[in-house]
Amino acid sequence: MNPTALITGASSGIGYEIAKQLAQKGYNLVLTARQPEKLEKAKAELSLPTGQFVATLAADLHDPEAPQKIYAFCSENGYTINLLVNNAGYALAGAFHQTAMEEEERFLRVLAISVIALTKLVVKDMLVHDGGKIMFISSVAAFAPPSSIQVLYGPVKTFVNRFSEGLNLNYNSSSIFATAVCPGYTITNFHTASGVQKEMDQVPRFMKKSAERVAKEAIEATLKGKKVCVPTKTFKLIVFLLKVVPKGLFPLFSKRLAPGRYQD
Ligand SMILES: NC(=O)c1ccc[n+]([C@@H]2O[C@H](COP(=O)([O-])OP(=O)(O)OC[C@H]3O[C@@H](n4cnc5c(N)ncnc54)[C@H](OP(=O)(O)O)[C@@H]3O)[C@@H](O)[C@H]2O)c1
Repeated sequence: MNPTALITGASSGIGYEIAKQLAQKGYNLVLTARQPEKLEKAKAELSLPTGQFVATLAADLHDPEAPQKIYAFCSENGYTINLLVNNAGYALAGAFHQTAMEEEERFLRVLAISVIALTKLVVKDMLVHDGGKIMFISSVAAFAPPSSIQVLYGPVKTFVNRFSEGLNLNYNSSSIFATAVCPGYTITNFHTASGVQKEMDQVPRFMKKSAERVAKEAIEATLKGKKVCVPTKTFKLIVFLLKVVPKGLFPLFSKRLAPGRYQD
């Protein structure tokens, strides 16, 4: 029987590429995102070999009920999830003191609370069904210095990495493996949707990677049960440097390599 993957944020960017590549590997797909039209368009564009299915469900992860709704949709249709991809996300741009607290709450709901809720529901089933894989789309921001335009984004991605580590500690013995995928700049709708396209336009071209390449490395790492994956050699090197270079030296290169993000 074909394995089944549940992917959040599957209507564009990294999530859509993951869906496309998993389909080619024989996975059935349950795709979810907020906007139903984009989701249906993504489904129509996926070419699936015979014997596989694609199911879609529009759900806004700002809604506290959304994880339960997604899980119930899978249960009611008899979809057993072998691979959960927690991918949906955006950044909250703008000065911290200018955003309404509700915006931070909604942001944390999508990037953290819904991720915990959906993972909790799926892990329970994975324990019954002899294991499974969980992929978290985190970010290089988890390792980077604080950003002046996205105060919460790095901290929440650091949380995701630690959460993934904790799941491995608790569930590897039950054949459940979590992978924190940490992409650097990836060409998707993310920067426009998050209001930081101007900064993305200034990033040197060699640092902008395709969603296709990020998805390929993310899938390979997850299926091998790797704990952390930093896609592309460029960002592997950058993460290495972020770990070893003294923090006081960051401003020397960060203004050029990460425009707008790491000003003093
Ligand atoms: N692009 C980068 O440079 C980069 C780098 C590192 C990490 N990441 C991470 O990669 C992940 C995917 O982002 P992407 O770059 O592929 O961006 P993207 O092209 O904008 O895709 C984001 C996906 O998340 C969905 N989404 C957003 N808000 C949602 C909500 N409230 N409820 C349900 N779904 C929602 C979107 O669906 P709708 O359009 O229907 O809202 C879309 O399918 C994110 O977690 C992001 O933090 C991105």
